[in-house]
Amino acid sequence: MMLVVVRVVVCVHIFMLFHFACLASHSCHSEESSALLHFKTQLITNTTFNKDKYYYANPCPYVYPKMRTWENGTDCCSWMGVTCDSVSGHVIGLDLSCSALVGIIHPNSTLFHLTHLQTLNLAHNYFYNSQLPSLFGGFMSLTHLNLSDCEFKGEIPSQISHLSKLQSLDLSSNYGLKWKETTWKRLLQNTTCLREIVLDQTYMSLIGPTPNPLSLIANLSSTLVTLSLSYTRIRGSLTSDIFCLPNLQQLILSENELSVHLSELSCIASLSMLDLSGCGIQGPISSSFSNLTYLTSLNLMGNQLNSSIPSSLLNLQRLTHLDLSMNELSGQIPNVFDRLTNLQTLFLNNNNFQGKLPSSLFTLTQLSQLDCSSNQIEGPLPKQVAFSNLIELFLEDNLLNGTIPASILSLKSLRVLELSNNRFIGHISSEITSYSLEYLFLCGNKLQEKILESIFHFVNLTFLCLSSDNWSGTVHFQLFSKLQKLEYLSLSGCNSLLLESETSMNYTFLNLYALQLFSNNIIGWSKFSGNFPQLEFLE
Ligand SMILES: *[C@@H]1O[C@H](CO)[C@@H](O)[C@H](O)[C@H]1NC(C)=O
Ligand SMILES: *[C@@H]1O[C@H](CO)[C@@H](O)[C@H](O)[C@H]1NC(C)=O
Ligand SMILES: *[C@@H]1O[C@H](CO)[C@@H](O)[C@H](O)[C@H]1NC(C)=O
Ligand SMILES: *[C@@H]1O[C@H](CO)[C@@H](O)[C@H](O)[C@H]1NC(C)=O
Ligand SMILES: *[C@@H]1O[C@H](CO)[C@@H](O)[C@H](O)[C@H]1NC(C)=O
Ligand SMILES: *[C@@H]1O[C@H](CO)[C@@H](O)[C@H](O)[C@H]1NC(C)=O
Ligand SMILES: *[C@@H]1O[C@H](CO)[C@@H](O)[C@H](O)[C@H]1NC(C)=O
Ligand SMILES: *[C@@H]1O[C@H](CO)[C@@H](O)[C@H](O)[C@H]1NC(C)=O
Ligand SMILES: *[C@@H]1O[C@H](CO)[C@@H](O)[C@H](O)[C@H]1NC(C)=O
Ligand SMILES: *[C@@H]1O[C@H](CO)[C@@H](O)[C@H](O)[C@H]1NC(C)=O
Ligand SMILES: *[C@@H]1O[C@H](CO)[C@@H](O)[C@H](O)[C@H]1NC(C)=O
Ligand SMILES: *[C@@H]1O[C@H](CO)[C@@H](O)[C@H](O)[C@H]1NC(C)=O
Repeated sequence: MMLVVVRVVVCVHIFMLFHFACLASHSCHSEESSALLHFKTQLITNTTFNKDKYYYANPCPYVYPKMRTWENGTDCCSWMGVTCDSVSGHVIGLDLSCSALVGIIHPNSTLFHLTHLQTLNLAHNYFYNSQLPSLFGGFMSLTHLNLSDCEFKGEIPSQISHLSKLQSLDLSSNYGLKWKETTWKRLLQNTTCLREIVLDQTYMSLIGPTPNPLSLIANLSSTLVTLSLSYTRIRGSLTSDIFCLPNLQQLILSENELSVHLSELSCIASLSMLDLSGCGIQGPISSSFSNLTYLTSLNLMGNQLNSSIPSSLLNLQRLTHLDLSMNELSGQIPNVFDRLTNLQTLFLNNNNFQGKLPSSLFTLTQLSQLDCSSNQIEGPLPKQVAFSNLIELFLEDNLLNGTIPASILSLKSLRVLELSNNRFIGHISSEITSYSLEYLFLCGNKLQEKILESIFHFVNLTFLCLSSDNWSGTVHFQLFSKLQKLEYLSLSGCNSLLLESETSMNYTFLNLYALQLFSNNIIGWSKFSGNFPQLEFLE
């Protein structure tokens, strides 16, 4: 009753303002309302089910059982997730993503009675590894179909190519969905408005290599903006022409075995994001990349690239993210970062880079993550760094020497500092003022002096490794319990450090699960009376 009154009042107000809008606003068609209500009864909502499923990586900002707002007797156009056409009143949009739906959509489902649907989003629900019904190909008005992470499996019905008005298709993260070559071809021929194709983690190995499944994309040349086919096992060859599709902005082909033949680019590409990580690319970094001048993100991680970094690559002045990690790149890192002032993340780790880190690298004020670990980088770090936004710095497993500059140890936003297994020396006792540190690994260097007094001010320290350094002096072990968040502590192999424990105090390591103290000079082990409720690993 309240609802009706509110509607009438609102309607009268709107009527006075927009005469026509009010006349045109329909309530839900009864057959569509009934189709939705029946669809609701065919599935269950189980929020705890989804919680279990997404324990490790929850793709939904929040899970909400939208269907619980659907009630007989109320206007279905007002139901959560339902959109009606303002003129005809037909249901044209259904967004039930992240709605904790569990069940099977059978071919007799009343979902398929909603023939006016233009957008349908069922992403992140659980349909029990059931077959994707061919009736999805019957929504002739559909422009947006999103069935990402629904646990559908089996062959993708060929009728999907009937959706000739599709602009956006997302079937990603349905590990069991398989493409047939004819279905893929027909889809690309018939859906000439497709702007977004997101099919990551569907199975495309049955397509190609001839005709090249990627060159078939050329059929969509004038519309395609996003093509995302990571982990699809698509077999094909990547040629430069695909970069030249006039509107393509995102190209994500990571973790596929592609044969890559990049020649000169004779176009001005609009590509802004390119991800070719884990694609088995061998040989030098192609000079073609340096002509992709609109790139903001370039990911070539985990290939077998074996050249040095061509300095032309760093002409890509719009870059904010560059990942060249886990290749066989060598030589000196070129000193050209003063041109890449927008860089926010830079990963050069696990290569064979040699020589010093270039001085221009330390001028990048926007950088938030820098990883140059596991190379053969040598020499001291500069005294001054301009990393005012740096959050994570990984430089472990190199040949860096000299002292650790105070300017790094006082970065205000730093949460991760990993400098293990280098040749750092010297005293750092009072210089550390990066109080935001959560992860501090200084192990395997030759650091000296009494670091320990200052460390106890780092309230958020969770992982602390100080092993195999040349610390000296005496430290009362229970002081570490001041670090209430500590989960991992390693002080192994610090031969000159005397670790002392007193029985006169009761102390608790609330969160500590791993403690390494081997090869230490420990005084009074028998008096280690602390409480370690979480401890699982003790060396
Ligand atoms: C909705 O309510 C009407 C009137 O009470 C009833 O006739 C109809 O069967 C109900 N529909 C559904 C789907 O429950
Ligand atoms: C919801 O899912 C949880 C976890 O899988 C299960 O234990 C529970 O029985 C389910 N509840 C219903 C009503 O199906
Ligand atoms: C729909 O089909 C399924 C599977 O064939 C069946 O179990 C179910 O009873 C059918 N529902 C209706 C309403 O016909
Ligand atoms: C192409 O789309 C139309 C509908 O727009 C459909 O009738 C036809 O069967 C489709 N062709 C293929 C090959 O899927
Ligand atoms: C599909 O829906 C999910 C959940 O709403 C969303 O995160 C994702 O971006 C959508 N896919 C596309 C291509 O828009
Ligand atoms: C689409 O691709 C097919 C096969 O590659 C080709 O024969 C056809 O001419 C293309 N159509 C358009 C509009 O580009
Ligand atoms: C880059 O573009 C220029 C101008 O379009 C062209 O002359 C040159 O050959 C291209 N270089 C590469 C490596 O593709
Ligand atoms: C780089 O890799 C290519 C292809 O595997 C190989 O032919 C070439 O010899 C390698 N070059 C170097 C310098 O290792
Ligand atoms: C640091 O390493 C560089 C190059 O390996 C070397 O020239 C320099 O003498 C070393 N400095 C110190 C203080 O060991
Ligand atoms: C410690 O962590 C808490 C919670 O993440 C945060 O609010 C606080 O600012 C951090 N303290 C420092 C000194 O960074
Ligand atoms: C360790 O520190 C002591 C002084 O505390 C010093 O004599 C010794 O040379 C240092 N060892 C190394 C390897 O730096
Ligand atoms: C430490 O705690 C234990 C157990 O809670 C208690 O028996 C002991 O008396 C305490 N020792 C001191 C010195 O407070």
